[in-house]
Amino acid sequence: MMFKTLMLTTAAFAVSAGMALADGKVIGFSQIGSESGWRAAETTLTKKQAEERGYQLQFSDAQQKQENQIAAMRSFIAQGVDAILIAPVVATGWDAVLQEAKEAEIPVVLLDRMVDSDPSLYLTAVGSNLVHEGEVAGQWLAATVGDKDCRIVELQGTTGSSPAIDRKTGFEKGIAGHDNLKIVQSQTGDFTRSLGKEVMESFLQAENGGKDICALYAHNDDMAVGAIQAIKEAGLKPGQDILVVSIDAVPDIFKAMADGEANATVELTPNMAGPAFDALEAFWANGTEPPKFIQTESKLYTQADDPAGQYEARKDLGY
Ligand code: AHR
Repeated sequence: MMFKTLMLTTAAFAVSAGMALADGKVIGFSQIGSESGWRAAETTLTKKQAEERGYQLQFSDAQQKQENQIAAMRSFIAQGVDAILIAPVVATGWDAVLQEAKEAEIPVVLLDRMVDSDPSLYLTAVGSNLVHEGEVAGQWLAATVGDKDCRIVELQGTTGSSPAIDRKTGFEKGIAGHDNLKIVQSQTGDFTRSLGKEVMESFLQAENGGKDICALYAHNDDMAVGAIQAIKEAGLKPGQDILVVSIDAVPDIFKAMADGEANATVELTPNMAGPAFDALEAFWANGTEPPKFIQTESKLYTQADDPAGQYEARKDLGY
């Protein structure tokens, strides 16, 4: 009996200690959807971080629609949440709702994608240098191809999203000055595996069954994985007949690299929530204003970087 009482007291203390740590804070998280393995990992890690830190997370899946994200933000504001995390699907059209959050004194943190609104409307943004990611991919391709003529096909991310805009700009910068490298086809695959495959099929058709294509640049790994399937179905060898470079570093691309079917990827960390919560906690503790942009690391992986080991290390991380 005494033991039971002690257990209950200890449990009650643990719960209240946890609540005291998180100060009963409620966080609204407006996620874009689940278009890619990377997105799934970001969702998993955000939920995990919130749980570990004792926050109550209100999760809203926008299913790729900006209007759903705006509605979710308005609902978070009406509820009076303590902070809002949002991964904005596109870069434009956020001024009004960000202004509403500001007037309600709710700090907003942008995750992984950027907006064109005035930075005074949000607390901070956590993300990578998206232009740099594209540039690294372009530089890798230019160095790999050397003097050979190379017709490149490009699978763009979601139209109007900051990664689609910046990764395109960055890649073009990376191959600038190499007149033997030309982007001959470029279309959106909306960051999804299925559309990546479908659009790649049309590229292959337009480019002599794929024989005229030297390389594929995909704005994310999921589209590359879909395109790899299309290349194989067209009777060509991805990774050899057509070089494949993409962005994210999800487990499936390492599997493709280990099998010789993809060549390089630039890592985007899915842990955007960690730095976001750190910034919020410092802000709540003593009003510390974080920098307007908290940059995460980007790293290039090639077939020389033990892709099989990378696959093993990442396969259970929520991708
Ligand atoms: O905003 C980051 C991008 O969004 C990731 O690269 C892509 O996989 C996701 O859908």
